[in-house]
Amino acid sequence: MTQSYQITLLPGDGIGPEIMAVAVDILKVVGQHQDLDFEFKEALIGGVALDAVGEPLPQETLELCQQSDAVLLAAIGGYKWDVLPRHLRPETGLLGLRAGLKLFANLRPAQIFPQLMDASSLKPEVIKGVDIMVVRELTGGIYFGEPRGVFSTESGEQRGVNTMAYTVAEIDRIAHVAFATAQKRRGKLCSVDKANVLEVSQLWRDRITHLATEYPDVELSHLYVDNAAMQLVRCPQQFDTLVTSNLFGDILSDIAAMLTGSIGMLPSASLGAKGPGVFEPVHGSAPDIAGQDQANPLAQVLSAAMMLRYGLHQPAAASQIEAAVFTLLEQGYRTGDIQSPGTTVLGCRAIGETLIQILNQG
Ligand code: IPM
Ligand code: MG
Repeated sequence: MTQSYQITLLPGDGIGPEIMAVAVDILKVVGQHQDLDFEFKEALIGGVALDAVGEPLPQETLELCQQSDAVLLAAIGGYKWDVLPRHLRPETGLLGLRAGLKLFANLRPAQIFPQLMDASSLKPEVIKGVDIMVVRELTGGIYFGEPRGVFSTESGEQRGVNTMAYTVAEIDRIAHVAFATAQKRRGKLCSVDKANVLEVSQLWRDRITHLATEYPDVELSHLYVDNAAMQLVRCPQQFDTLVTSNLFGDILSDIAAMLTGSIGMLPSASLGAKGPGVFEPVHGSAPDIAGQDQANPLAQVLSAAMMLRYGLHQPAAASQIEAAVFTLLEQGYRTGDIQSPGTTVLGCRAIGETLIQILNQG
């Protein structure tokens, strides 16, 4: 029987609409192959929402997302909106979506494609075989902690304040996701904190250590965040699954992404305890190349694969997309950001068309 899913599409800003169009075409083809029916509904977020209705996350968008089976997001932001006050920034819309859907777990894989080894700024022997999953806490920590703001002191000086705070419940739920993720991978989990300085990190470390007893098959280690940043570029092959707080995860996932040399290839999944997840590329909206048919749609396509795997529990369909991307690279097709001598550079749309041919050749 055909399975039907309602998918909310949030193309957003910059290259968002171009790469989203490719991912939607791919999903339709894979849907035919795998007997899946997708009903797509599009909504506004980020800069386009600001321009259209004056807010970065319209209530209507959040409600549509809440009612759907999964949300596929492209990218938000652009120079034009960078000057607006914080509550009217595209990023505030994204943070509102994460909070509104209670997406506390952010999975960011950083996997080297053997065909793209040259794209990394690190030596091939350092990055060969790298396959890391960063599990980032996404709705707590310093991003959301109170008090926050810029306040006047008694002497009339301005003072900026943010608060890094985690409750035990917040730590435990991300820890469980991380341990379960490590179990499905190579069974190694490294928790990253700053417990030598921060009380909130000491609590984090204590809870993770405590919960490890429930996962005897997972080998747990701890690193301070500064050391983790260094180890990631020194010897990334030592890592399997990393778990860390919101801010540290923001930073470390960019480092992990850059190991692969091709941020245009990396997808992500943001998941809650229940309800729809949000699936989006790690890269941004690249306003400098928007509308020129030059964008790399592969992170968006791989985000659609993550949506199938982690959001809709359709691993066969996910694998089909991932295999098609692998074949495309194997055949030497590239977008400009990942080109190297001897490869064929195609535009965004042509990459999509080639992927569809590969899928249909099966
Ligand atoms: C990310 C981004 C966001 C974050 C910004 C755009 C709010 O850097 O998804 O990593 O800091 O979480
Ligand atoms: Mg970031």
